[in-house]
Amino acid sequence: MLNFDNIPVKPAKTGEIAKPGMPQAAAVSQAAPSVQPPPALGPAPAAKSPTVESVLSFEPSTPSINMTSGGATMPKTATQESAGVTGLEEINFNAARIRVDDKKIINCRADLNQLVPFKYEWAWQKYLDACANHWMPQEISMSRDIALWKDPQGLTDDERKIIKRNLGFFVTADSLVANNLVLAIYRHITNPECRQYLLRQAFEEALHTHAYQYVVESLGLDEGEIFNMYREVPSIHEKDAFQIQFTSELADPNFNTGTFATDQRLLRNLIGYYIIMEGIFFYVGFVQMLSFGRQNKMTGASEQFQYIMRDESMHLNFGVDVINQIKFENPHLWTADFQTEITSLIRQGVELEYKYAEDTMERGVLGLNCSMFQEYLRYIANRRCKQIGLPEQYPGAKTPFPWMSEMLDLKKEKNFFETRVIEYQTGGALTWD
Ligand SMILES: [Fe+2]
Ligand SMILES: [Fe+2]
Repeated sequence: MLNFDNIPVKPAKTGEIAKPGMPQAAAVSQAAPSVQPPPALGPAPAAKSPTVESVLSFEPSTPSINMTSGGATMPKTATQESAGVTGLEEINFNAARIRVDDKKIINCRADLNQLVPFKYEWAWQKYLDACANHWMPQEISMSRDIALWKDPQGLTDDERKIIKRNLGFFVTADSLVANNLVLAIYRHITNPECRQYLLRQAFEEALHTHAYQYVVESLGLDEGEIFNMYREVPSIHEKDAFQIQFTSELADPNFNTGTFATDQRLLRNLIGYYIIMEGIFFYVGFVQMLSFGRQNKMTGASEQFQYIMRDESMHLNFGVDVINQIKFENPHLWTADFQTEITSLIRQGVELEYKYAEDTMERGVLGLNCSMFQEYLRYIANRRCKQIGLPEQYPGAKTPFPWMSEMLDLKKEKNFFETRVIEYQTGGALTWD
């Protein structure tokens, strides 16, 4: 639970030891198809999913086998026997080569340090696409924004509040996402091409935090006011507290996948972050900040958000593919109870995001109002549900912002050369005229 005074810090896992079940045959390069449709709903579940509270108080498994790694004797737990490898295992000399059929997205026992042969071509393609979209915050000129912000007549108080609240949410939100990637899910996604994308995504989250910091600094905002907003503004705090519960349970050193309950918890985390955080909690802010640019105001900040939204859209699509692949390989996890739990979380996400919309704008501004956001959030929640094979929750909802889909079609070169850059250096250290 994220509280106003302190965030509890849990120790990182330092070593999980299990011998990989190495294959005997030579390499086979046949790639599997991309994510396949989820199977039909199976019979009633044998056990009900645990609550958040029960997993947060997860009891360590009893050590059963001692194994050696790097000179240290580590206890091996019963849970670890069925969990996947991590990539930290002893490198057995003369072990057999990887076969594509040995690869699994979770609980894999094959070597994770060998990227090929690819099994999930969609993950590798998304990594390539993400690299092709590379950008840096300093490539976008903030000079017009600075002039507008400093002009007492430049923006209304309502407009300034929207900008500050959104920066207040996003400056810490991307750190929460990055922390979840590297401290919670990375260890449990047992596939090297997916991990390659996760590493790229983690860097992009760092770039996003950098971009928000760059806007805060450019406008000369009070850093303490903006960065501490998730401890001071209830609607921001509630969204982040909702998310951090998902990270805490997986970052617990005693948490391992490989059981029905823990595999569901991993899936729940992925849905919490990719579908709800990156797929719902970012979108009131994206619409609002992009609306400034559409009115030729705060064009630099708006363009930063446009690049970020393009990245986030890919993160969401990658997450959808991972979730559906886990479902495809582990259909027993997708029980009726679990679907009910996930649907309830998505509906809670819509409520929290609507509350945030109300908190950013007390009255209509920029041609936007809260009832438009209510309809919009229902529309995108329907889309998110459909993407992971759940029924639409708000039948008939339509988007009041059809222009949002055009905003994803962003050509870097067009924007890049419309502004006057006098010197170019790879890495984004630019000097602006
Ligand atoms: Fe991000
Ligand atoms: Fe993201």
